[in-house]
Amino acid sequence: MNIILETPRLILRQFTEADTPLLVQLNSNPEVLKYLHEPPLETEEQALHIINTIILPQYKNNLGRWAIHLKSSNQFIGWCGLKYLAERDEIDLGYRLMKPFWEYGYAFEAAKYTLEYGFNQLHLKTIFGMAHIENIASLKILEKIGMQFIKEDVVDNCPVKTFSISNPNN
Ligand SMILES: CC(C)(COP(=O)(O)OP(=O)(O)OC[C@H]1O[C@@H](n2cnc3c(N)ncnc32)[C@H](O)[C@@H]1OP(=O)(O)O)[C@@H](O)C(=O)NCCC(=O)NCCS
Repeated sequence: MNIILETPRLILRQFTEADTPLLVQLNSNPEVLKYLHEPPLETEEQALHIINTIILPQYKNNLGRWAIHLKSSNQFIGWCGLKYLAERDEIDLGYRLMKPFWEYGYAFEAAKYTLEYGFNQLHLKTIFGMAHIENIASLKILEKIGMQFIKEDVVDNCPVKTFSISNPNN
């Protein structure tokens, strides 16, 4: 298992092709996808396609979306991580959790340590974030980790608020 980072309660590791059932579990819930411009995942074949074409290629530069497990039980709860968005030439911090694990502060914890990893280990200059204008939980997390609001934008036909934060060590 390729562990990227640990937080007090969480382990973040790279996904592998063996994770198709976990990804289907996560991305088949319409509530999880409510503010995202994505169709639900229905099959492991679809999940494998996403792993091979979207998730694994990001790992080349130590970036990527990483699977989150609870340290206490090893339970998979979702993902968090840093993705290079070629169309915006930006590094985007994102997160997605399975519904039973919402509102325990896990996404904030994962995002906070992911930001520190991006700045301290990867020496990134700026990290960006975006969330649907009505996705209150996600917007709160971006603000709580210290990001500044830039502007409203439309991405994949969704109205979003965009944020960024600069590396304090640079
Ligand atoms: C967004 C998401 C990751 C938040 O995860 P979480 O673990 O519940 O977040 P946290 O527990 O760290 O909560 C962060 C803040 O949002 C608040 N919050 C959580 N869920 C909320 C909700 N449904 N409505 C309003 N506020 C909410 C929390 O109370 C907390 O507020 P506080 O800082 O004032 O204490 C989770 O809801 C999710 O996976 N949603 C689906 C995918 C998604 O939308 N991802 C983000 C795309 S931009």
